[in-house]
Amino acid sequence: MSYNLHNPSLLTLMDYSARDISFLLDLASELKRAKYAGTEQPRLQGKNIALIFEKASTRTRCAFEVAMHDQGGHVTYIDSASSHIGRTESLKDTARVLGRLFDGIEYRGYHQSVVEELASFSHIPVWNGLTDESHPTQILADLLTMREFGERPLHELAFCYLGDARFNMGCSLLIGGVKMGMDVRIGAPAALQPPAELLVQLRALALTTGARITLETDPVKAVAGADFLYTDVWVSMGEAEDVWKQRIEQLLPYQVTTALMQATGKPRARFMHCLPAYHNLDTEIGRQIHERFGLTEVEVTDAVFESDASVVFSQAENRMHTIKAVLVATLT
Ligand code: CP
Ligand code: NVA
Repeated sequence: MSYNLHNPSLLTLMDYSARDISFLLDLASELKRAKYAGTEQPRLQGKNIALIFEKASTRTRCAFEVAMHDQGGHVTYIDSASSHIGRTESLKDTARVLGRLFDGIEYRGYHQSVVEELASFSHIPVWNGLTDESHPTQILADLLTMREFGERPLHELAFCYLGDARFNMGCSLLIGGVKMGMDVRIGAPAALQPPAELLVQLRALALTTGARITLETDPVKAVAGADFLYTDVWVSMGEAEDVWKQRIEQLLPYQVTTALMQATGKPRARFMHCLPAYHNLDTEIGRQIHERFGLTEVEVTDAVFESDASVVFSQAENRMHTIKAVLVATLT
């Protein structure tokens, strides 16, 4: 590669500079164009990567698998039910074994410390496929999608994240947006705003990137002027079922509705979601929420989800192009 990333692993976007991120987004766009044109060059022939999933996944797993296949490389999928990970072999030992066999490791699980330990002991690139704290490959896809639909450079765009802003998506979007100098808003109740220590770090960073950070408890004020409204599930993987009641009480005012989209004041405002989403009764959890709380749609209404403003499936596609860029940039 003609450009060296600051870090061969992607554990959090905090470790990457704005230039690193722009480089990856440019590379993802090039790879996307090449795939569409049928001119993609396989640059990962002979490379093998391990995909560890301690939580469920559709997009992230498929994105890594298709990206690697397109580039001529191979993947091995490992989950905690059918391997020794965590139960009969420590992570430190697993990392040292996988480091001898593979060229890189994707890891999805609970604590950020686990993905950090994997990177320390495997001595090969490790990519975070989601932890409780961070979901950096998702943010690369989201930034590419905002670039594609925003019609302006990222630093001239505003987005508002509505929902539980303490967890992986809220924190990671904040990091990505601040790194890229964007107008970043959080619409959440005081109890679900991002952690104070992260905000201290990001406010200092914002002074150097030109980003604006707005924390707002009033959803209508939060979204005014935003080009993108972004939400996520109100209860994340690994959280207890019994938090649903309180979360619904806290977050119902932040549900993304047609009225909230209109409150942006931007006729071309777009709706974003990392997916999966509870927007109708077509899922088991969606039906359980309906039985328990009477809601037919949760973090976003079906009308918004299915509207022309919704770019959620472009985001999902961009997971693959951006993950491919990360693989090519860190394995060649
Ligand atoms: N957005 C996302 O990470 O999706 P999966 O859980 O399906 O991987
Ligand atoms: N916050 C969600 C994101 C899913 C992609 C979760 O962790 O379950």
